[in-house]
Amino acid sequence: MSNYFPQELIDQVRSANDIVEVVSEYVSLKKKGRNYFGLCPFHTEKTPSFSVNPEKQIFHCFGCGQGGNAVSFLMTHDKLGFVEAIKLLAKRANIRLPQKEYDRKKLELTDKLYHANQMGAAYYSGNLSGLPSGKEAQAYLEKRRVSKETSKTFQLGLALEEWDGLLKFCISKGVEQQTLLTAGLIIERSDGKGFYDRFKNRLMFPIFNLSGKIVALAGRIIDEKDNPKYLNSPETPIYQKGKLLYGLNFSKEKIRESRFAIVVEGYMDFLSLHQAGLQNLVASCGTAFSANQARLLARFAEEVILLFDSDNAGEKATLRSVDLLYDAGLEVKVAVLPKGFDPDSYLNNYGELKLRELINQAVGYVKFKASFLNDRFANLSLREQEGILMDFAQTAARISQGVRRELFLKQVSEQLDVSESIVRKALLTVTGKKDTEQIAARVAPQKPGPQAWEKEFLALVMDNWHWFKKAETEIVAEDFSTSHHQELWRFLSQQNQAREEFDLADFLEKAENASLRQLLLEIASLDFLGVESETLFEDYIRRFRAERREREINKVKQSLKNAEAVKDEEAVQTLSSKLHNLLQENTLTVSSEKTS
Ligand code: CTP
Ligand code: MN
Repeated sequence: MSNYFPQELIDQVRSANDIVEVVSEYVSLKKKGRNYFGLCPFHTEKTPSFSVNPEKQIFHCFGCGQGGNAVSFLMTHDKLGFVEAIKLLAKRANIRLPQKEYDRKKLELTDKLYHANQMGAAYYSGNLSGLPSGKEAQAYLEKRRVSKETSKTFQLGLALEEWDGLLKFCISKGVEQQTLLTAGLIIERSDGKGFYDRFKNRLMFPIFNLSGKIVALAGRIIDEKDNPKYLNSPETPIYQKGKLLYGLNFSKEKIRESRFAIVVEGYMDFLSLHQAGLQNLVASCGTAFSANQARLLARFAEEVILLFDSDNAGEKATLRSVDLLYDAGLEVKVAVLPKGFDPDSYLNNYGELKLRELINQAVGYVKFKASFLNDRFANLSLREQEGILMDFAQTAARISQGVRRELFLKQVSEQLDVSESIVRKALLTVTGKKDTEQIAARVAPQKPGPQAWEKEFLALVMDNWHWFKKAETEIVAEDFSTSHHQELWRFLSQQNQAREEFDLADFLEKAENASLRQLLLEIASLDFLGVESETLFEDYIRRFRAERREREINKVKQSLKNAEAVKDEEAVQTLSSKLHNLLQENTLTVSSEKTS
C-alpha cells in the first residue's frame, strides 16, 4: 500500500499526470465549458454523462456516480491496487520509483534523525539546567518570566559559547556524524576540514511534531546585539516548516474541547500564554500560514483567532493567513493588540484577564480588513472602491456554507456602508454566476461533516491494512454512526480474516451491493495530508472511545430520567452511581490522555 512510497513521491507522481490525458487513453473526451465529457466506461450509456474536471483533477459520472482521481480511475478501470496504479502512472511520467530496499533505508534514516534531535535537545537542556553554564540564560528566562516548569515542559535548552559541544556529546552517545549533518545540527567547515555546531550562544527551543517527537531545533539569541534573532534547523526528511504548527502536540485536545485555536507568531508568545493558562494555542513561527497548516488546524478547530504582533509584519501575516484559513473551512477572527505589543509583552504588562478580554473582543475578518481603510470607503475613488469590493467578494466566494456567505455579504455591506446589492454584484462578477444560489456548487472544500472523520479513519486503515487488526480489538461496527459505515466495517472485518493485504479490486468484486462498492471506492480515493498517520490513527481511536463513552452517558442519563419519572428509588440510586462513575472515568481518561 501507499506506505511503501513516501507521500512526496506519490504527490509528485500524481501531479506529473494530467487526468485528462490519462482518461483519454480509455475514453474519447470532448471539451464542454471547463470540463471534458465522454461515454462512461463504468456503465453502458448512449449520452455522455462521464465528466473530467482538469482543474480539480477528478472525474465523475453523473449517470452511475463513479468518481475519483487519476489513481482511482486506473484502480477501478484496470482493477489495479493502489501501488500498481501509482507504478503505472510513474511509468507514464518517466518517474523512477524506489525499490523497497531503499525505503527501508529511508525509514531507518527517519528514526536516526529523530534520535539525533532528541540527543541534541538533551544536550542543550543539560547546559541550561547546569551551573555555572546555564546561569546567564536562566536569569534571562527569569527576566522574561518563563517558569522552571514551563522551561521543563518545553525542554528548553542552551547552546553555549563553543564550537563543537553538541557534536562531541552526540558522537559520544553513538549518533553518527552523517546523521547530525543531515539533521542540520552541525555544519561542514568551508575548508572541508571538520564540522562545527550550527547553534552557538542561543536559547534553544525544540520543535515537536504532532506525536511529540523532536524534529528540529530553533535558537534565539541571548545577547540582543547578536543576529539573526532566531536560527532554525534546515528542512530535513522529518521537518518541513510549512507542514507543522509549533505546540499543536501540546494543545490539540484543548483546541478540540474549546473548538477554537488561538494562533500567535512566536515561540515566546506561545510559552508565555501557555504558562498563563491559555492553552488552546499554536504558534505559526513567524511565517504566513500554509494550506497544509490550515488543514492541519481544521482537524481540531472550528474557529481560529489570530493574535499576531501589532507591527507591519504581523499585520501582513494576518492578511495573508486569512484566506487560507477560510479555504480550510475555518471561521476566522482577529484580535488586535495595541501598537508595538506582541502577545507576550501584552500579557506581561496587563495580565491574563486583560488579554482574555482582548481575545474575546476579536473582530470578524470583514471588520478587521475594513479597519485598514485609512479613509472612509465613501471617500475613495471608484476604482479603489471596486478593488476593495472585489477583494471581499473573492473571500466570500470561498465560503462554502450558503448562510454563512450571506452573513458575510451583509457584514461587508454594513462595514463599508454600501448596499447589499452592490456587494452581491461583486460576488457574481468574481464567480461568473448569475445567481448566488449557484455558487455553492462551485465551492470546493466543505467543512467535514459529523461522519467525515469516520470516512477518514476507514481510509486510513484501508491504506494501512496492518492496523486493521489493532483497530478491530477496539472498534466494533456499532461504533460507527451510519448503517453504511457499519456495513463497510463488517465487510472489512470479514475480508480481513481472508486476506493479508487490502486489495481494492478484489474487495470490490466481493462486495455484495452497489452502495457498498460505491462507498469502498469513495473512501479508497480519499486523499490524506501525508503527515503522521500513526498519530492520526491513535487520535481516531481515542475519538471512538470518547464517542462511545458519550453515548453510554446519554443512555444512562435517559434511563435515570425514566426511573425518576416513575419514582423507582432503587433504580435511581444505581443509575446515579453508574452515571457518577462514568463521568469520573471520563475526566480520568481525558486527563491521562493529556499527560501521556
Ligand atoms: N522567526 C524566525 N526567524 C527569525 C525571526 C523570527 O524563525 N529571524 C520566527 C520565530 O518562530 C519567532 C517568530 O518568528 O518565534 C516571531 O518572531 P518575533 O516576534 O521576532 O519573536 P518572538 O518569539 O516574539 O521573540 P521575542 O519575544 O523574544 O522577541
Ligand atoms: Mn514577537
